[in-house]
Amino acid sequence: MFKKLNILDEKDKRLRQISEEVTFPISKEYKQLIQRAIDHLTYSQIEEYEKKYDLRPGMGLAFPQLGINKRIIIIVDEVDDGIFENYVMINPKIVSNSVEMIAAEAGEGCLSVNREVEGHVLRYARVTVEGFDEDGNKIKVRARENLSIAFQHEIDHLNGILFYDRIDKKKKFYSDNEIRLI
Ligand code: NI
Repeated sequence: MFKKLNILDEKDKRLRQISEEVTFPISKEYKQLIQRAIDHLTYSQIEEYEKKYDLRPGMGLAFPQLGINKRIIIIVDEVDDGIFENYVMINPKIVSNSVEMIAAEAGEGCLSVNREVEGHVLRYARVTVEGFDEDGNKIKVRARENLSIAFQHEIDHLNGILFYDRIDKKKKFYSDNEIRLI
């Protein structure tokens, strides 16, 4: 049965800590939590379940948001109508990035931030991320556009950074001439 996750609010200090590297093998408890995060994120992006379980839509989650300061991120990307691709990455590292920057035109959201925050967050248009899967195998993902933003947003959580920390207070919004808005 589906059980909604308990996600920490932005005021919680655990969201501001640097999370620790994970050692393998990971516990059964962590594996279960990863599966619940995948279910939660998937359901949150399907209208019927979003309403039924009163979920806020989101595509990513990091372990510190569950009160566990370990370097694990989960992303569920809707690549087509009702088609989802899951990414579970442990000890993720951005190993290369594009020079080009982008920003989500509507701004970013976060399951730990229960309010609207206005402003564009500058992100790399493309990143290559290396890390490990749940079984400790080395994995590498090349992400672009929204998925690239999601990886950068979730990795920020592992370093105690929330998306609005990156909004320039003196210049909250960019035009399409200055930065590519997606
Ligand atoms: Ni977030």
